[in-house]
Amino acid sequence: MAILPILQYPDERLHKVAKRVDQFDESIRKLARDMAETMYAAPGVGLAATQVDKHIRLIVIDVSETHDDLRIFINPELLDSQGQKENEEGCLSVPGIYENVTRAEFITVRAQDENGKTFTLKAEGLLAVCIQHEMDHLQGRVFVEYLSQLKQTRIRAKLKKQRRETL
Ligand code: NI
Repeated sequence: MAILPILQYPDERLHKVAKRVDQFDESIRKLARDMAETMYAAPGVGLAATQVDKHIRLIVIDVSETHDDLRIFINPELLDSQGQKENEEGCLSVPGIYENVTRAEFITVRAQDENGKTFTLKAEGLLAVCIQHEMDHLQGRVFVEYLSQLKQTRIRAKLKKQRRETL
């Protein structure tokens, strides 16, 4: 396994749109394992392939406190969404920034696992937020882009300053 470098906002590569996965071979399973290790090490609750500069429709999520509930979603599709809820979100590509975003409260998602087997999942709470957040990454969208232009400018300035200080 390996810990992969995570792209940092506003890296342009975070805006690439991910392609469908058609071949469920060992390289996909290895990438999923490496992404899980990267997510746990960060630590974070979700990671999209886009964030490790692999532009395919693959996300890993584990919202458990015990880090033993890894979920892999390949080619995820939102089948249904209900309600609206505001939640505070963060992102491994936008370190130290936490902002409120409104998303669907209940979702139904269909995806494939690392062996290509299709499954359908109903989700709510943190898991639903996380799935929607990670699916946005696959479309090249970072959560701060839901915020006002003014806030986005402030966030970019703050991140720039943080990076200067840690160099
Ligand atoms: Ni994120």
